[in-house]
Amino acid sequence: MNKKILALFFSGLLVISAALTGCGGNAKGDKVLKAACSADFAPFEFQEEGNKEYQGFDMDLIRALAKEMGMEVEISNIAFDGLIPALEAGNIDVAISGMTINDERKGKVLFSDPYYESGLTLVVRSDEKNIKGFKDLEGKSVAAQIGTTGSTEASKIKDCNVKNFNVISECFMELKAKGVDAVINDRPVNDYYIKKTNSEGVKALPEKLTAENYGMAVRKDNEELQKKLNAALKKLKDNGEYQKIYERWFGGASK
Ligand code: ARG
Repeated sequence: MNKKILALFFSGLLVISAALTGCGGNAKGDKVLKAACSADFAPFEFQEEGNKEYQGFDMDLIRALAKEMGMEVEISNIAFDGLIPALEAGNIDVAISGMTINDERKGKVLFSDPYYESGLTLVVRSDEKNIKGFKDLEGKSVAAQIGTTGSTEASKIKDCNVKNFNVISECFMELKAKGVDAVINDRPVNDYYIKKTNSEGVKALPEKLTAENYGMAVRKDNEELQKKLNAALKKLKDNGEYQKIYERWFGGASK
């Protein structure tokens, strides 16, 4: 064997051993996508009793996206107002949690392309006569989830007493217990809640206060993952997979 062939042989061995020990680009660590949501937001992310798996539109979407990117996904449950701090601390790679893309958050994280169009509506008790829309909330009390756009909008209403809760189910409980007059929250979640509980005692009002787009959030310095997620999202939209997931949770055609 001449020297050249020997050198080639050894460099080949090096590559193989690097791959086997998991060094370099093939490292297993790179293949696990650490995702998180606040699993209190059906039909986007929730956990059913007796079922360990997180369910919902966002959960199916992130699993399909990870598959498309050739990665495994690990999902953890973090309170909504803890998601951005968890990203900033490097504990997770992506937050997918019905999170609205807005300027304030854009100062802290990078967002993927929008993947769902949402907006805020009001839920009131079925026998409510005085609140017909957002303009009637002056002087009333309203519940919202901590750290959400619903909570921010509530805080802008004049003389409105805003009660913030950790999870959205607590807001609905408070409304039923007459602790507040209304809940401000995302339309699809309000509609799903009312459908699931057969509208007992509460109703959603048709007025939509905002138009909001959901995006996945990644760390400010992780443009690479942002790009990968966008490419995978586009692929799933093009090949019909996104549509299938959409229909599973919402029925009908997606926008
Ligand atoms: N879209 C609203 C926001 O971004 C509410 C999101 C709440 N998500 C959740 N998983 N609880 O502020």
